[in-house]
Amino acid sequence: SAAEKGGYDYFMLKEIAEQPKAVADTLLGRIDASGSLTLDEVRIPVSVLREVDKVVIVACGTAYHAGMIAKLAIEHWTRIPCETELASEFRYRDPILDQRTLVVAISQSGETMDTLMALRHAREQGAKVLAICNTNGSTIPRESDAVLYTHAGPEVAVASTKAFLTQLVACYLVALYLGQVRGTKWGDEIEAVIRELSDIAAAVDTVLETMEPVRELARSLADKNTVLFLGRHVGYPVALEGALKLKELAYMHAEGFAAGELKHGPIALIEKDLPVVVVVPSPRGRSVLHDKIVSNIQEIRARGARTIVIAEEGDEAVVPYADHLIRIPVTPTLLQPLVATVPLQVFACELATARGNEVDQPRNLAKSVTVE
Ligand code: AGP
Repeated sequence: SAAEKGGYDYFMLKEIAEQPKAVADTLLGRIDASGSLTLDEVRIPVSVLREVDKVVIVACGTAYHAGMIAKLAIEHWTRIPCETELASEFRYRDPILDQRTLVVAISQSGETMDTLMALRHAREQGAKVLAICNTNGSTIPRESDAVLYTHAGPEVAVASTKAFLTQLVACYLVALYLGQVRGTKWGDEIEAVIRELSDIAAAVDTVLETMEPVRELARSLADKNTVLFLGRHVGYPVALEGALKLKELAYMHAEGFAAGELKHGPIALIEKDLPVVVVVPSPRGRSVLHDKIVSNIQEIRARGARTIVIAEEGDEAVVPYADHLIRIPVTPTLLQPLVATVPLQVFACELATARGNEVDQPRNLAKSVTVE
C-alpha cells in the first residue's frame, strides 16, 4: 500500500532514501568513545582471528559486489590474502580451506541457496564462517559460526540498495576490526578511517540531495539500448553494480568493465552517442589511477561516447571530458563506493520508470533465490 511505501511511489525509492539511516544504524554501537571498534557480537575469539591466514568471501549478485570491495579493504588494512568468489562457483572447484581460513558469507536475505551451500562446504572443510546478513534468524546466520548483522531494516524492492550500502559498512567494520586485533602497520590509517566512517551517513545524504540532474539524464536515455560502466580499484565493483541495477530494472544491455581492460577489447564497443558511465577514483592518494582513468575518458570521448562522469567534489581534471558530471563528496579512497553507488541506483530506478517498467518487481526475478 501507499502507506507502507512511506509516501514514495516505489519501495525502491523509499529504500534509496533510507540509506543514510541504514548506514548510521549499521555503525551504531560498534565504534566506542575512544574510536575503537567493539564487535563483541562477532563470536569468533580474537585468538582465532589472529591466526587467520586467508579470508574467502562468498556471495551472489549485489552482495558479491560488496565482497569485491571488501577484498580490497581487507587486504589493504590487514595484509591477509583475501579472495572473493561467486557462491555459485565456489564449492564446485574444490577450494583450499582449513581451520585458519575465515569465510565471510554476505547475504541480505540469509536464504540464498548458493551462498548457503558454499558456507556449508566451507564448514565441512573446517573453516570458520562469519555471516554478514540483514535478516535476523535466517538460515545463513544460523548455520554460521558468527554473524554481523546489517541494520538496513527490511528491504522489499527486488533490486538491492540500502542492503548493499550496509553490507559495505559491515565489510569495512570486519576489515578494520581484523586490522585492529592483529595490529598492522596501518594502525593510524585504521583509526582515521573509523573516524571518517562516523561522517559517512551525512555524505550519503548529501548525494541524495543532488540527484535531480541524474534523474533528468536517466529520462533522456530511455530509448538507448546499451549503457557501459567503467571503474578501477573500488570503482570497478561499483561499475558492475551500476550495470546490474540497469539490467534488473531497465532491462537494458549494461556491462561493467575495469577501465584498464578497455584497450584489451571493450573499446571496440565504443561508438557515437553510446552512454558510458565512468566512476573516477579520488585525485588524492592513488593519483596514478586517477590520471589513468582521465586518459580513458579522453579515449572513449574521442570515439564519440557520451561520457557520464562520477567524480569527487573539487576534481577539476575531469571537467573538460565530461558530457555529464555527477559530483560526490570527498571520502577516503576505500569508502568511495558508499557515495558513488547512490547515483547509479537513482539512475537505474528513473530509467526503469521512464521505460514503463515495474520497479519493485522486475520481470523474471525473485527477492531471494532459494534454489540453486
Ligand atoms: C540485487 O539487486 C539482486 N536482486 C541480487 O543480485 C541479490 O543481491 C542476490 O540474489 C543475493 O541476495 P542475498 O543478498 O539475499 O543473498
